[in-house]
Amino acid sequence: MSWYDEVEYIRKQAKLNNEFFANSLPMIASENVLSPLCREMLITDFHGRYAEGSPGKRYYEGCKFFDNVEIKAMELAKKLFNCSYADVRPTAGTTANIGILKALIKPGETATVLDLANGAHISFGKWGGAGVRGINLISYPFNDEMMNIDVDGAVKLIKKVKPKLALNGRSVFLFPSPIKELAEAAHEVGAYLIYDAAHVLGLIGGKQFQDPLREGADVMNGSTHKTLPGPQGGMVLSDHKGDTDEDKSFLRKLNFGIFPGVTSSYHLHHVAAKAIAYAEHLEFGKAYAKQTINNAQHFAQALHERGFKVFGEKLGFTKSHQILVEIGPGKGKEASKTLEGAGIVTNMNTIPGDTDPFRPSGLRLGTPELTRLGMKESEMEAVADFYQRALIKKEKPEKIKADVKEFRKDFQELHYCFKEGFRGYDYHKLI
Ligand SMILES: Cc1ncc(COP(=O)(O)O)c(C=O)c1O
Repeated sequence: MSWYDEVEYIRKQAKLNNEFFANSLPMIASENVLSPLCREMLITDFHGRYAEGSPGKRYYEGCKFFDNVEIKAMELAKKLFNCSYADVRPTAGTTANIGILKALIKPGETATVLDLANGAHISFGKWGGAGVRGINLISYPFNDEMMNIDVDGAVKLIKKVKPKLALNGRSVFLFPSPIKELAEAAHEVGAYLIYDAAHVLGLIGGKQFQDPLREGADVMNGSTHKTLPGPQGGMVLSDHKGDTDEDKSFLRKLNFGIFPGVTSSYHLHHVAAKAIAYAEHLEFGKAYAKQTINNAQHFAQALHERGFKVFGEKLGFTKSHQILVEIGPGKGKEASKTLEGAGIVTNMNTIPGDTDPFRPSGLRLGTPELTRLGMKESEMEAVADFYQRALIKKEKPEKIKADVKEFRKDFQELHYCFKEGFRGYDYHKLI
């Protein structure tokens, strides 16, 4: 066997993976697919180059064209999110979170957070970035029925413990957070309110979710590859204008937290693809975000009608791209495995009351990718039928998988992005 065989093996796995996803229903709430124009940027010469610093102030030469790209990316990001400060360098949502913690809070100081069991992300937990930074974490009370932070309890908590940062980061994010109230309390005690929009950035950019920077958040950050369908990466935004010395210092610290705090080379090809994703979102984001949420609401209702216990019933199940379903004590993994066998890709998830993160009792489902593939409300009914057949009627997964493959045949084209042929665009000409 030669090393070439190993290369062939890897290429084959990639091909099989492509085929698997092209024939399945991808419903992981944090995933999405890249447009052809974004994808093109990933194989340009920007890949692998170094550009430490910021445009015009580089440690390395050769950045002339990349500087233009980064300046444009920041400009488009500010336009998309209607704000005055944008940092497009973080290489992931987690990197953005840790950079912000590095900038704005010191080891031993206190931050208020959501509990992991109630849908927080690990990067604001003791086993993740917040733990690495040595921060003292105090959890907000949570209202299970409303699937949200208990606003009165959280306000009282912030006023009592006087944190340095009031954090809002949610991986289970069905309904908008009470940012106005939390920000008022935080500002009263001299704390900053940080809104980790990893999951909902594309919905916010599409103007179909809450607008945290208008509601009082000092910083909004997130991943650029979830509901915002760009390349894998992160970003940091703020509407602080730097018009006082204190505010200038705040923005300087934020900037310094990302570089040199948590980046060196920051994957320049991804920055170029982010710029394209922002432009595409300015053009298509509103329609895409609206349809994504409509699909999620319709799908949740369809599951409910087919006998599933879906969270948030009293509030219309969801106002985002996500749906949270209770499967049974410790049964989330079994359900997600059954669905995978049926060609439906999901993930197990903790639900309120779960204590063991390795034996969750629910599934978190998302509609962003199905929406990008062109599915609408009527398709959500068909998808709910597949779930019912797999998990309630317990039909053989292989039979459902064949039907899913047939169903997917009509949904192979990507929507809400500039298409091949747009203004004579030819994928092969640039490279
Ligand atoms: C709330 C939240 N923050 C941060 C992240 C981390 O994002 P990334 O995977 O881009 O590092 C996630 C990931 O799902 C998340 O849900």
